[in-house]
Amino acid sequence: MSSRASLAVIIVAAGRGERAGAGQPKQFRPVAGVSLLARSIAAMAAACPQADILCVIGEDDRTAYEQAVTELEPGWAGRLLEPVAGGPTRQASVRNGMEALARAPEPPSYVLIHDAARPFVPPDLVARILAQTEATGAAVPGTALVDTVKRVAADGRVLDTPVRAELSAVQTPQGFGFAPLLDAHRLAFAAGREDLTDDAAVAEWAGMVVHVVEGAPENVKITRPEDFEAAERRLAPAPRNRGETRVGLGYDVHAFEPGHAVILGGVAIPHEFALSGHSDADVVLHAITDAVLGAIADGDIGDHFPPSDPQWKGASSDRFLAFAVERVRARGGRLVHVDATVVCEAPRIGPHRDAMRQSIAAICGLPVGRVAVKATTSERLGFTGRREGVAAQAVATVLLPEEADPTEDA
Ligand code: CTP
Ligand code: MG
Repeated sequence: MSSRASLAVIIVAAGRGERAGAGQPKQFRPVAGVSLLARSIAAMAAACPQADILCVIGEDDRTAYEQAVTELEPGWAGRLLEPVAGGPTRQASVRNGMEALARAPEPPSYVLIHDAARPFVPPDLVARILAQTEATGAAVPGTALVDTVKRVAADGRVLDTPVRAELSAVQTPQGFGFAPLLDAHRLAFAAGREDLTDDAAVAEWAGMVVHVVEGAPENVKITRPEDFEAAERRLAPAPRNRGETRVGLGYDVHAFEPGHAVILGGVAIPHEFALSGHSDADVVLHAITDAVLGAIADGDIGDHFPPSDPQWKGASSDRFLAFAVERVRARGGRLVHVDATVVCEAPRIGPHRDAMRQSIAAICGLPVGRVAVKATTSERLGFTGRREGVAAQAVATVLLPEEADPTEDA
């Protein structure tokens, strides 16, 4: 647009948003915390740095409008003209906006008319409209149709099938020479034509030549409730835990030996035997440790804490598990869940289950709700059934960040 030509933007925001459903008119409803109207104003203000912006609003919507203006950067709000009241149809609302601009001491050379309900209009689309408007006097953004379109009678009978290649779904903003569009609106009103659904239709009716330029698929008109949901999804931040989920499996057995207590899940449980092992023989923590190491394919407990090494003699097994959890953290990952099953005829696990869960949760840095402990007998079968020892199984779930090439772990 040449520097001499002046430009105004009219944003029509006087509809009731019937199709969008309950609550206040859709243009005042937020998407990701900011109203459609504030988003549309900001988009047009950014794309047209020299233009005045006039909003057309419902008679009772002044408070909602003022609220939307508070959502704007102060610089944008300063570009707004005093809003004017709309009419019963979009066409009437635009006409009211045009008449208000016509009353200004210096009406603009060009005008862009934009729907408040199109908050995602991209700046390059606006630039194309401005260039074409200046070149030929009237321009609208359009996109090609993918569906074949039928003209259909009220009773469902197909009247005809327009050639799809000649059809375009048009959007806003639509650009016009100000004076010709004002004349077109006045003529249409005088002729009782109040059924025209966009300004291009008013201009065409008055004999103006209108050109279509390339629109944008993202320049949707928020119309139905699901359009709000899609808009929220579009603006939602990327999910926090992008990456991959891994599950590891662990299994361990320890034999009974003479003694008075077993240590299971870090909890000492009185019993007629103890468990024999190089460390404290906590079969449950060992199974969980292997599950955590398994989830990150980082060997097993014996690799990191060899039984041949005297320093682990009698060691408290919580340090093995804490070590495995730390290995996950070192990979940028997070242990999110642990589930263990204890297999023995005795001692009875049930009374100690919650203490075990709390102990395991504390070692792993997990909320207790992410730790499960279950127990079963083996129906007197096998070594556990003969009360020769205790077995434990566990799975651990780990979230790891996305990796360029997971196979390089090896
Ligand atoms: N519009 C307007 N005055 C009207 C009707 C519509 O200013 N009397 C505006 C709307 O606020 C919207 C744009 O024109 O920004 C496009 O209209 P539409 O999407 O149909 O919005 P509503 O009319 O509000 O919605 P509905 O038709 O579902 O009631
Ligand atoms: Mg409408």
